[in-house]
Amino acid sequence: MIISITSLKGGVGKSTLTQNLAVCFAHMDYKVAIVDADINASSERWSGLRDNDEYPPIMTVSIDTPKALRNNVTLLERDYDIVLIDGTPALSKLVSTIMLLGDIILVPIKPSILDIWATERFQERYEEAVTLKGESIPGYFILNEYNARMTFNQEVKEAVDDLGFEIMKSTVKTRQAYKEAIQYGKGVYEYKDKKAKAEITKLANEIIGLL
Ligand SMILES: Nc1ncnc2c1ncn2[C@@H]1O[C@H](COP(=O)(O)OP(=O)(O)O)[C@@H](O)[C@H]1O
Ligand SMILES: [Mg+2]
Repeated sequence: MIISITSLKGGVGKSTLTQNLAVCFAHMDYKVAIVDADINASSERWSGLRDNDEYPPIMTVSIDTPKALRNNVTLLERDYDIVLIDGTPALSKLVSTIMLLGDIILVPIKPSILDIWATERFQERYEEAVTLKGESIPGYFILNEYNARMTFNQEVKEAVDDLGFEIMKSTVKTRQAYKEAIQYGKGVYEYKDKKAKAEITKLANEIIGLL
């Protein structure tokens, strides 16, 4: 099972969610691998901090060209139950490849206007990926750094509808634990903030329900 985590914008939480979901899945006894497709290599660096003896191991590799991504993700899928691709914010062909390899696409967003501008360009890449794959790829938005006072304006709703994506019920709030856990090569599942752990577990279970 391949989960592509992507967006056309940096700083929306792709790497944070990739690492934290990987940790949850690993604790659910899935064999998990992360493919870091971003030249910023934050998942690769995170994996260097992880204690794979004390905590469930997570195989992490960095790949940033479309052909190598196709070849290696296909190989990893043979040996791992779940392969998460931590995407790049670049506008390159790599984004279409990341999308088309996914059995599902997860797109963290912060529901603001700026995210919607990015979504329009995102749509072009998504349509390209669907054409190349020859079949539709289910996509889901994850509301990251969510706050209950946020309301969806019409523009957000239209953009979501145009893509044919759904919004996941589970949301992720702004929490210091996401920043801290990462510094130890952990996920919040392995950290002291119980609310963060509960929130990410709920999201991981919702994703498993989709697969
Ligand atoms: N839910 C959250 N709570 C607190 N900080 C967050 C959360 N999600 C992301 N961040 C922070 O936002 C910044 C960007 O997140 P990151 O996962 O690196 O985004 P991306 O991979 O999309 O560029 C990081 O400093 C990260 O710690
Ligand atoms: Mg990142």
